[in-house]
Amino acid sequence: MIALRLAILAAAFGTAAAVLAADGTAIYAERCATCHGDGGAGDGPASAALEPRPRNFRDAGFWQGRTTEQLTQVVKAGKPGTMMPPFAGTLSDADVDAVVRHVESFRPAARAH
Ligand code: HEC
Repeated sequence: MIALRLAILAAAFGTAAAVLAADGTAIYAERCATCHGDGGAGDGPASAALEPRPRNFRDAGFWQGRTTEQLTQVVKAGKPGTMMPPFAGTLSDADVDAVVRHVESFRPAARAH
């Protein structure tokens, strides 16, 4: 009976974890928007105090020559010389991938349709 309950619990939490892991929107809102802004414009409540300030992810110029691999690397390792923190110890690889996909959704071309 206990084993059965544990199996049910494991199934329930496993599902919840999988859903959360895929939710880049929620991760962004929780961990990134304070600095980068809800809409990615670099205007979060903490941004005014930062030097350099977060750039505008909605500006096509930001995306010139930028690859998914570069963004993933910065989110994992942080950006030296800025307040961009490293998330490698905080977020799983799946979480990082999901939140990077959310950042890429701010790209102007990605919103054209
Ligand atoms: C404490 C404030 C802060 C938090 C929290 C933060 N960032 Fe940043 N981030 C910065 C600053 C400052 C920069 C450097 C300026 C720039 O490149 O826009 C930066 C840069 C970046 C860049 C651009 C790197 C490049 O040059 O290509 C990306 C992408 C990024 N952050 C994503 C994220 C994501 C995703 C999260 C949440 C998981 C996050 N940031 C959380 C402040 C923050």
